[in-house]
Amino acid sequence: MILILLGAPGAGKGTQAEMVIKEFDLRHLSTGDLLRTAVSNGTNLGKLAKGFMDSGKLVPDDVIIGIISDYMKEHPGEGVLFDGFPRTVAQAVGLEELLQGDELKVVSLVVEDEQVIKRLSARRSCRKCGKIYNPALGINPAEDGKCFCGGEIYQRDDDKAKTIANRLNVYHSQTEPVIEFYRGKKLLVEVNGTGSPNEVFDRVKNALS
Ligand code: AP5
Ligand code: MG
Repeated sequence: MILILLGAPGAGKGTQAEMVIKEFDLRHLSTGDLLRTAVSNGTNLGKLAKGFMDSGKLVPDDVIIGIISDYMKEHPGEGVLFDGFPRTVAQAVGLEELLQGDELKVVSLVVEDEQVIKRLSARRSCRKCGKIYNPALGINPAEDGKCFCGGEIYQRDDDKAKTIANRLNVYHSQTEPVIEFYRGKKLLVEVNGTGSPNEVFDRVKNALS
């Protein structure tokens, strides 16, 4: 199965992905995590992506489709959860061209803008493994303040107020059309993304069964 998890910034894609991949035995491919790793390693991809990410804009479609194409060649026939991809209709069309009869499911987490702004301002992440922490939800790092993998806990550069606003604008203008694209193909299931992470997870499981 190829599962696409759509949703606004802060809708809970990463939080749900951690649980969904265990339940359905999928690999987790977050284009955002992959790009952040490239930025911190200073690779050519990272140098290219940094300016777009820091300002809340999307990295160009051809770069992203290239990453996904390489991934699918390296992992043929394996179940995967795409978190944060596709984010434009061009990326969704690019993915269609890469699919080889794989079963495709699309879940969109629905959360109001006001709620995601609160969530993103409170989020802390591990610089090394990307794990999401949130003291407000009681999801805390180890006693030494580090991630359980030993990585440093930090606030993502794009989780500052102005960049959050830009990311939401980009979501409404460029990614919401992807929701309509999959609705038109009758592949879309919308899930209420409010409530506790476990409540949302129960809804996602129901949507997939
Ligand atoms: P990306 O890393 O994908 O960021 P995003 O889409 O903005 O989403 P987030 O990771 O911020 O939120 P999330 O939905 O994963 O929420 P989370 O679970 O962490 O992309 C970053 C950048 O990379 C983009 O802006 C772009 O530049 C680039 N990029 C990436 N992919 C690209 C692509 N395909 N094309 C082009 N460019 C691309 O939760 C958020 C917070 O809420 C946490 O604190 C969490 O604890 C909390 N929370 C989660 N669930 C709940 C709940 N149920 N109740 C209360 N709080 C909750
Ligand atoms: Mg995420």
